[in-house]
Amino acid sequence: MIKIITSALCLALCFFSTYAQTYATHGMVVSDDAYASQVGVDILKQGGNAIDAAVATALALAVTFPQAGNIGGGGFLVYMPHQGEVTTIDFREKAPMSATENMFLDAEGILIPGSNHKGLKTVGVPGTVAGLYLAHQKYGQLPWAALVQPAVDLADQGVPLSYTLASHAKTIVESDSPDFLKQLFTDQNNAVLGFGDIWRQPELAMTLAIIRDRGEDGFYKGEVAQALVDYMEANGGLITKKDLKDYKAIERKPVKGTYKSYDIYTMPPPSSGGVALVEMMNMMELVDLDSTEFNTTAYFHLLTEVMRRAFADRAEFLGDPDFNNAMPLDRLTFKAFAQQRMAHLDWDQASVSDPLKFGQIYDGDNTTHLSVVDADGSAVSLTYTIEQSYGSGMGSPELGFLLNNEMGDFNPQNGYTDRGWLIGTAPNKIEPGKRMLSSMTPTIVAKEGKPYLIIGSPGGRTIINTVFQTVLAVLAYDMPMREAIEAVKIHHQWFPDELIYEKDKLSPDLVKTLESMGHHPVSRDQLGRLMGILVNQVLIGASDSSSPDGAAIGY
Ligand code: GLY
Repeated sequence: MIKIITSALCLALCFFSTYAQTYATHGMVVSDDAYASQVGVDILKQGGNAIDAAVATALALAVTFPQAGNIGGGGFLVYMPHQGEVTTIDFREKAPMSATENMFLDAEGILIPGSNHKGLKTVGVPGTVAGLYLAHQKYGQLPWAALVQPAVDLADQGVPLSYTLASHAKTIVESDSPDFLKQLFTDQNNAVLGFGDIWRQPELAMTLAIIRDRGEDGFYKGEVAQALVDYMEANGGLITKKDLKDYKAIERKPVKGTYKSYDIYTMPPPSSGGVALVEMMNMMELVDLDSTEFNTTAYFHLLTEVMRRAFADRAEFLGDPDFNNAMPLDRLTFKAFAQQRMAHLDWDQASVSDPLKFGQIYDGDNTTHLSVVDADGSAVSLTYTIEQSYGSGMGSPELGFLLNNEMGDFNPQNGYTDRGWLIGTAPNKIEPGKRMLSSMTPTIVAKEGKPYLIIGSPGGRTIINTVFQTVLAVLAYDMPMREAIEAVKIHHQWFPDELIYEKDKLSPDLVKTLESMGHHPVSRDQLGRLMGILVNQVLIGASDSSSPDGAAIGY
């Protein structure tokens, strides 16, 4: 279904699609929310570049997509300018300086179940504003205020509450969620907002207006920082004024891999996504895919074995590079290493995850991704998060934004790894001021030196495998991007030794065959929510059909 929007939101020659591909010639933005995609396209039309549009879209998502869009979380951005080097911006959250290795353990040193995802101690020092500001200062074209203003307007004037958010609102208000989250969706009379009601966020509008006027200092210093710290102090949180003042976004060199003639640019640590993606693509390059048809038993077996290996390496080696100076990134992304990892592949039998090796369960899947291409052909792939859906659910009522619960992405019980979900390796143990390991995998695949596929997804640790399978389908199986986004996805992460697959999307026979080979299939509703742009003479955009309010908008 392709709709041409005739509302004031979208002027002539603006194409909007939720369930189909959108084609455009000048520029395109794909995100989880149509208002936010439209903000990005408007910025492109005003002469903004891909960075400007990505910044404005991300800030708009902080208003209209509160499940994951944020100024209270963090993320990563990969930028391929039409001329010059590919670069990345790391704006991952950090542990506050008073965080300790044992902060989520009981007196016996055992993890208190759920404690690393609940309450104010799970909030990492937010990085989003610093990251977007750094990207803009180094690579943006339009004034900063012009990029923040649309988000201020959305929060101040309000938007009609979507059907999806209205159903979330009802569930949240009836649950034992934190009061802040409940109040997000209630009016002055404490009545829950319904579908189509105008949803205004005046406190968030004021916070954004300060950020508009003062840049990153508007968030990390002054009255916003003070209100945030007051809220922390009053409610048992750890973040101090110094934590905020000291937060810095960091520009890092991308992880670069190749698949046949394509170049793959993706995120280095503290995300594990890029290294694992490149390692898996290297392993796939060794296989004769002409005799491994898409969606066959052999295909799923192969993918599972590749994922199993990459996730074991992820768990063993990866963490914040500023705390782990000996991470073997070159080795993990080296073609010869893939050969070594694939040497014992048995085409008939699943290997067994080794309990002395490592892995970790898929986790919170509410993160969000946006992809942008501008008129010059520059591209941005940006994924950011507050960890679980609506993050910690907490925030200062004065400031109006949700805080992350990203501390849950650290290994909570150092030194203890089990066959289930606990992993205790040192590279990702909790340390003051450290960035927690992420799986976000914003990626740009280049063909002949130009952006070709701009892609990413939410989904916790499943992100890596979702992006991997989509990139593989497009590059190795020549699948149109739209089909690759919609194609069935699987996930394996070493431990627990389960082959997760999307419910009702694999035939029962195939599942049984995988079981007989020694795999442990488990179904799950959905894997990933991809937002992609393919550049093939024209721009082709698609938002995953699992994103109810998502939109690819181009002009
Ligand atoms: N919070 C999800 C991730 O960073 O991987």
